[in-house]
Amino acid sequence: MQKLNLKGLTKRYASTAVVDHIDLALQEGEFVSLLGPSGCGKTTTLRMIAGFIDPSEGTIEMNDRLLSSPAASVPPERRNMSMIFQSYAIWPNMTVFENVAFGLRARRRPRDEIVRRTNEMLSIVRLDQLSDRYPNELSGGQQQRVALARAIVVKPEVLLLDEPLSNLDANLREEMRGEIRRLHDEFRMTTVYVTHDQSEAMAISDRIAVMNKGKVDQLDVPVNIYRTPKTRFVAGFIGRTNFIEGRPNGDVVDFTGFNVAKSSLGTTGIPAGVSTFSVRPQSMEVFAAQPAEATRPVIPGKIANRTFLGETWDYTFAAESGLRLRVVSSPANALEMHQPVWLRIDPSQIVRVEDSPANA
Ligand SMILES: Nc1ncnc2c1ncn2[C@@H]1O[C@H](COP(=O)(O)OP(=O)(O)O)[C@@H](O)[C@H]1O
Ligand SMILES: [Mg+2]
Repeated sequence: MQKLNLKGLTKRYASTAVVDHIDLALQEGEFVSLLGPSGCGKTTTLRMIAGFIDPSEGTIEMNDRLLSSPAASVPPERRNMSMIFQSYAIWPNMTVFENVAFGLRARRRPRDEIVRRTNEMLSIVRLDQLSDRYPNELSGGQQQRVALARAIVVKPEVLLLDEPLSNLDANLREEMRGEIRRLHDEFRMTTVYVTHDQSEAMAISDRIAVMNKGKVDQLDVPVNIYRTPKTRFVAGFIGRTNFIEGRPNGDVVDFTGFNVAKSSLGTTGIPAGVSTFSVRPQSMEVFAAQPAEATRPVIPGKIANRTFLGETWDYTFAAESGLRLRVVSSPANALEMHQPVWLRIDPSQIVRVEDSPANA
């Protein structure tokens, strides 16, 4: 059984579909991120799941029961979901304890149960020493833990988070995403997590739905999203990449200035005619001397640009054919501007990408 099932979910404002026929099914206990740039429809999707917005088209089901359709909608307070917003909005006039206990009080649980569950939750998020403090006496990370504790203590069927870490500084963001994942592994709550930060989505998710202009371009586990991006948009949004054009020719694919056996590429089923391929800067190596190589393509050229980033050298390689590629290299591999070099490509990391459905 699917825990949460979005089918053809669509929201139009005037005639524009800001969420456009999204299909997404979450298994019980799964953690799925909606990842995409600002304005691609993430918050609108999440608010439809929560029941704050009704769809123009399509349905939302939980446990095979209809929650939302254009004709009828279960109100948010009867969905048994918790939502955490970017501005975590914990109540300033309540202590940490009162904030976390709030949902249990609203559900009229017996007093001793409220005290027990609230204290348990506070110790899980390591706020038990701070239970009498007010929010203005807490750091940003502590406030965010209060918001998490308050959302989780009521044992929601689905937890919804909308860019919950974007108000925190970079170090704290990394710590808190670990915390959110730890809480998820402890409670196994079905979770939909919205973010525009690709590394956050990679680190925290079981699966990622990459959104582009109201559509889901790709839904997959983080490794596949990175290694075999389906569209040009996904390839470019998840990390950096190079796009090259190739055309199948018998058993090989011809690229500009080199060719590769079809069977050694990272994708199969390449159609006739010109296609776009993605190859990551990490999938190539540059050498000052020509490397001995039997199988992988080696292309002569020059260093056309270089930037030292501490952890890596970032080179622009310019082939004699005119092809230009960005390559990253170890800090020890220092090459001079205009120096003749050889580029070796790992063909298994060359993958074909399609146009996004939203751009079709
Ligand atoms: N109430 C509304 N009326 C009209 N347009 C809206 C409304 N809410 C959101 N939008 C538009 O829908 C698009 C998607 O918004 P949103 O879901 O907030 O994106 P995201 O959360 O991915 O940044 C944006 O272009 C936004 O301007
Ligand atoms: Mg948003």
